[in-house]
Amino acid sequence: MGHFLFNFILFIFLWASPLAHSRTTPYTTPKTTLLNVATSIQKTYQVLNFKQQQHKSSFSPSSSLASASLSMQLHSRASLHKPSHADYKSLTLARLARDSARVNSIVTQLDPNFNVEKLSGPIISGTSQGSGEYFSRIGIGEPPSQAYMVLDTGSDISWVQCAPCADCYHQADPIFEPASSASYAPLTCEAAQCKWLDQSQCHNGNCLYEVSYGDGSYTVGDFVTETVTIGATSVRNIAIGCGHNNEGLFVGAAGLLGLGGGPLSFPAQLNSTSFSYCLVDRDSDLVSTIEFDSPFSRDAVTAPLRRNPELSTFYYVGLTGISVGGELLPIPETSFEVDPTGSGGIIVDSGTAVTRLQSNVYNLVRDAFKRGTKDLPATNDVSLFDTCYDLSSKTSVEVPTVAFHFGEGKGLVLPAKNYLVPVDSVGTFCFAFAPTMSSLSIIGNIQQQGTRVSFDLGRSIVGFSPNSC
Ligand SMILES: *[C@@H]1O[C@H](CO)[C@@H](O)[C@H](O)[C@H]1NC(C)=O
Repeated sequence: MGHFLFNFILFIFLWASPLAHSRTTPYTTPKTTLLNVATSIQKTYQVLNFKQQQHKSSFSPSSSLASASLSMQLHSRASLHKPSHADYKSLTLARLARDSARVNSIVTQLDPNFNVEKLSGPIISGTSQGSGEYFSRIGIGEPPSQAYMVLDTGSDISWVQCAPCADCYHQADPIFEPASSASYAPLTCEAAQCKWLDQSQCHNGNCLYEVSYGDGSYTVGDFVTETVTIGATSVRNIAIGCGHNNEGLFVGAAGLLGLGGGPLSFPAQLNSTSFSYCLVDRDSDLVSTIEFDSPFSRDAVTAPLRRNPELSTFYYVGLTGISVGGELLPIPETSFEVDPTGSGGIIVDSGTAVTRLQSNVYNLVRDAFKRGTKDLPATNDVSLFDTCYDLSSKTSVEVPTVAFHFGEGKGLVLPAKNYLVPVDSVGTFCFAFAPTMSSLSIIGNIQQQGTRVSFDLGRSIVGFSPNSC
């Protein structure tokens, strides 16, 4: 009844308000969106058969957008690291297991007592193939050694595996050799960069770092400065970890590039006032870019970029609502706000795959989606996903549109393939959102695919430009 009244008032408002004609108000979001089932299924076969790319010289010249901007190529994991899975279902299960480990490591940074997400079912082989779905290649040292780095907006410290290894996991490129770099310089314990570390130690006056990712992964070693080369540009004195003891799920990459909001992050050390990335479809071998100090696209949907006083790393976004099928859901706005103790809020994360929402919010979104898909044949749950369909007899389907809203009539309409995803190659598709027991919500990379996500650090704005990889 309350719902009816709400709609009725909305109707009056729409009828009366000239604003209602703005394309971006939630009230005029299209009701349905087309999902090309056949194309999605075709990609599930392709991803298992990519030829491993040889990126001998994968540097793109500095972007012409602005003289000061730095640009580097960005690759999906699948395009670099051939998945050794028999089928797409097993690849999906491995990805989801990694994703739960990722979410646990994010959430426990703010709430050590968090009851971690556990997936039911057997241990999935292939999980150990490594975390991080997107990689970039950079040069480290002088002369530069090439290294694939996992891009991570959920952490600040960049590091590479370093010789001599007490314990290094397998990587594609040779291990970085400090002795062959003229620019390698250990940081002393008195250096400002050393003092910014959460976990540091002193050994003979030199700074040692340690990062643990909460899922059992960690890296330990010397904290040093090095020259980092991006495209044709070399930047000196970037503080990075030279990891001699590295354990975990980073297989394939030489290390990690920390893109978080803290003072040690890569953008902060470049003195960048902005950066942006565009995540290609994770089942594609297309190449996109990550750019520093390039201008905002004019068609970007913008939202306030917020910070958590308790933790500078994460990029929180001023989400105000979610609509499904063109209708804004009755979600309390406080569901997405950071409270004074640092709990709650919603972050944009490059490393989490599936968007996590507080259970009550998730239930509203899921139920609305189900109401709009009553005519689609439902099927069993798959891992994290509780809303799945058997679309094996379809080539395309109309599904309710899902959109994020940021107030002032601004909305980001998601393409259907960013929320109804194949979990196998025989036509099972699932609604790719999941509930979390944490108060922290996360906008994941499945929902960001194909969208350029820009962080204007100076003006505190997040921008989303659809279809701009
Ligand atoms: C960033 O700014 C600091 C302080 O002004 C300066 O010392 C440093 O060289 C700058 N780094 C780069 C990469 O421009």
